Amino acid sequence: MDLELTEAQRGARDIARRFARERLERVGVEVDRTHVFPAAAIAELGKLGMLGVFIPEEYGGAGLDNVAYALVLEELSVECASTGVIVSAHASLGSWPILGTGSAEQKRRYLPKMATGEALGCFALTEPQAGSDAAGQKTRAVLDGDTYVVNGTKNFITNGPEAGICILFVMTAPDQGHQGISALIVETATPGFAVTRIEEKMGINGSHSAQLAFTDMRVPRENLLMKEGDGFKIAMKTLDGGRIGIAAQAIGIARASLEASLKYAQERKAFGRPIASNQAIQWKLADMAVEIDAARLLTLQAATLKDAGRPCTKYSAMAKLFAAETAMKSATEAVQIHGGYGYTKEFKVERYFRDAKITEIYEGTSEIQRLVISSQVLRGQ
Ligand code: CAA
Repeated sequence: MDLELTEAQRGARDIARRFARERLERVGVEVDRTHVFPAAAIAELGKLGMLGVFIPEEYGGAGLDNVAYALVLEELSVECASTGVIVSAHASLGSWPILGTGSAEQKRRYLPKMATGEALGCFALTEPQAGSDAAGQKTRAVLDGDTYVVNGTKNFITNGPEAGICILFVMTAPDQGHQGISALIVETATPGFAVTRIEEKMGINGSHSAQLAFTDMRVPRENLLMKEGDGFKIAMKTLDGGRIGIAAQAIGIARASLEASLKYAQERKAFGRPIASNQAIQWKLADMAVEIDAARLLTLQAATLKDAGRPCTKYSAMAKLFAAETAMKSATEAVQIHGGYGYTKEFKVERYFRDAKITEIYEGTSEIQRLVISSQVLRGQ
């Protein structure tokens, strides 16, 4: 892995950093309180090219790579983790399946809208009875002439209420287990597509997690990604990339926790001196700094492999696992360093603590990441 960033990667990171400081700092505070989707900020990110970082220029994207994408997501998430996951679910989970597995016609039709944010993307895999066990799909699609008729329910779908395009996983051959799963591109304006519930959550309140229901929804056969039965592998490959995005989001939350702790520890006095002069605090700061850098290196390693077209399953799971645990640990220590104030809404570390937790859960829990990593190392990968 080349540790030196290119000019384009540094440029994208700097644009995102500036936007986050100038625009997202306030958005992060507001959406946590109001639970309102940050539509204006997302539209501005679209204009800046931040919603299509790795989409080629021929489809209206920025034409950069996954390293640049990870750096951008980290910067956005330092100020607003909700914005981080909205962008990650849109790009990694909504547009990548079309870019990575779609036909020339599907790419031409959908990617330009997604690159600019004219249409946001979502990824509907999880069902009430199919979370970690993603192969247990119940949503059914039956071919009727040239259209699939879809019935079923999906849960916890990030961007569900706002998306224009949904990558939907359906069972087309229920007797064939994971080999009976297919992936469809669904325009959410299609009759029969409904948002039936928005969850109330612990954190990332500006990002909506929705239940979606499909009732006799007709989807043209031409919207099938690859061929029938390829859906599970498309989902797994997509998550290999998605986990890089969530790792970057987690690093952003961890960095925000460290930055807040550094400031507070140097300002807050106890026993007549700043608490940063105590080794107990210094060691916490040191551990946070080490783990954040280690998490970023793992994440950039996974992104570099993905950019090279090499298998990244192990590294993206390692990055997501380590970065999520770093986010949770850093946010916990940040609250501890802030003492009683850290437990109040006066300080942002209380939000970081709530926002960090989900990174250990979505796009595969930490337990699932350990399962993926162990199955790779046992095979000598
Ligand atoms: N790339 C390509 N193919 C893969 C793959 C990968 N990374 N991982 C597995 N496969 C293939 C296997 O090779 C196998 O192929 P064959 O049929 O040819 O043998 C097939 O897929 C089945 O593999 P497994 O037997 O390993 O599958 P499994 O049923 O045991 O499941 C699992 C494996 C890792 C547990 C998987 O179910 C999983 O990742 N679960 C977690 C699901 C998840 O992350 N959900 C997140 C939802 S999205 C979300 O959270 C979005 C959000 O809100 C932000």
